[in-house]
Amino acid sequence: MKIGVFDSGLGGLTVVKAMMKSIRGAEIFYIADTKNAPYGEKTPQQILQYSLDIARYFIDMHHIDALVLACNTATSVSIKTLREKYPQLIIVGTEPAIKPAINKTLTGVVGVLATPATLRGDKYQHLVDVLKNGKDVTLFEQDCPGLVEQIEKGEIDSLKTKEMLEVWLRPMRENSVDTIVLGCTHYPLVDKTIEEVMQREVTLIHTGDAIAKHLLALGEEKGHCNNGELKITLYRTADINEKIVSSIIDNTEDFKLIDIKS
Ligand code: DGL
Repeated sequence: MKIGVFDSGLGGLTVVKAMMKSIRGAEIFYIADTKNAPYGEKTPQQILQYSLDIARYFIDMHHIDALVLACNTATSVSIKTLREKYPQLIIVGTEPAIKPAINKTLTGVVGVLATPATLRGDKYQHLVDVLKNGKDVTLFEQDCPGLVEQIEKGEIDSLKTKEMLEVWLRPMRENSVDTIVLGCTHYPLVDKTIEEVMQREVTLIHTGDAIAKHLLALGEEKGHCNNGELKITLYRTADINEKIVSSIIDNTEDFKLIDIKS
């Protein structure tokens, strides 16, 4: 199985990391579209265009069988169009994990951190309407402009990152939030900092494992037999912070790093 995976940057590698635990006998092509990051602060038209260009590149250059949108923001804007345009492809997206959070919370107060574009999107609003329906749960939704850039710069626990998180998380801390949905694939990279700022035990929910499981099931339905070597090639459209790459993926020797023009 040839799998194209993309994100605006390095956040989607948290999904690749989960895929590496369970997927075998596949070739993964990952695009970190750092030239256009952050997606979460772009217009829907721009985000759709980036997604279409990347899908086209994967199809033309690598003849992919599956496309993984390792990005909540791109999923929110583009997955419907991509599915309509490429019905033959397995297409898996990333959505804020509201459902497991509602099942886990004991206080009934759940925080959601995501990009501005994800929280504004109809897809997110629809998801919340369906899942909250009739349930006694309060959601604290917070967009985090600037956080993706901090992470891409490697400022995982710098003073500035902590100060930004303090402003966003204080209302959650003061209102008994016990479960936080990490609705952007970059945010698991600051999970420890979020825990520190929350100053108490909190369940952080991310989606990498669920995506890997879903992709594997869809692949097997199409005849993928899950054994053999896993090859990964990482492409970047502009600079990336290689230190962050190796902090996410332990064995970076298996990685090839290639520049592409977007
Ligand atoms: N990691 C992405 C997401 O899951 C995109 C973040 C961004 O570029 O703003 O939403």
